[in-house]
Amino acid sequence: MDATDSAATADALALAPSTAADLPGLHDFLVRADLTLSGLDAPTVRLWLLRDAAGTVRGSTGYELSAGGEHALIRSVAVDHAARGQGLGMDLARYALDRAADAGARRAWLFSRRSGPFWRKLGFEPADRAHLADVLADTHQVTLFRSTGQLDREVAWARDLS
Ligand SMILES: CC(C)(COP(=O)(O)OP(=O)(O)OC[C@H]1O[C@@H](n2cnc3c(N)ncnc32)[C@H](O)[C@@H]1OP(=O)(O)O)[C@@H](O)C(=O)NCCC(=O)NCCS
Repeated sequence: MDATDSAATADALALAPSTAADLPGLHDFLVRADLTLSGLDAPTVRLWLLRDAAGTVRGSTGYELSAGGEHALIRSVAVDHAARGQGLGMDLARYALDRAADAGARRAWLFSRRSGPFWRKLGFEPADRAHLADVLADTHQVTLFRSTGQLDREVAWARDLS
């Protein structure tokens, strides 16, 4: 996807970067999607929101880079239940992948226990979760999952960014 296409996608999705004022709405939205809440206000975590005309959060997407910037942990990709199955999830995921690549990341990783087939459609393949936790050791999700023991129950996925 080139820069023109990225801009078109952003316009079509009306995505906006998440700000401090968005945190309560984003928090509630991610609770409903059963996704990780750690680091939502961290400067290293880049998040975008999709709101409807009434201002309600209908989608989210984002990533957090490794300390050196080579690896990106894709996170918080979610679509409101009522809007699922229309291709929005793919658009939101691609948006985070494009922004991570723009930021210089060479490889994308993520945790997903339930949506593997969705991520496979975007080129992700099963990955070693210990490797993920090693290259993205400083990220909020990895830190949380290590501290709670959830890391051992997680399923890791990865793909190159080019
Ligand atoms: C995963 C999620 C973002 C998908 O959103 P969506 O808008 O329904 O996805 P799309 O409409 O773009 O789906 C694209 C394709 O993936 C498939 N797909 C979507 N979610 C899937 C899932 N959970 N499992 C398997 N396949 C899935 C769709 O059937 C569709 O396939 P098709 O092209 O053959 O018809 C959404 O279900 C969601 O918010 N889930 C809860 C949060 C979550 O688990 N996020 C991922 C971890 S970060």
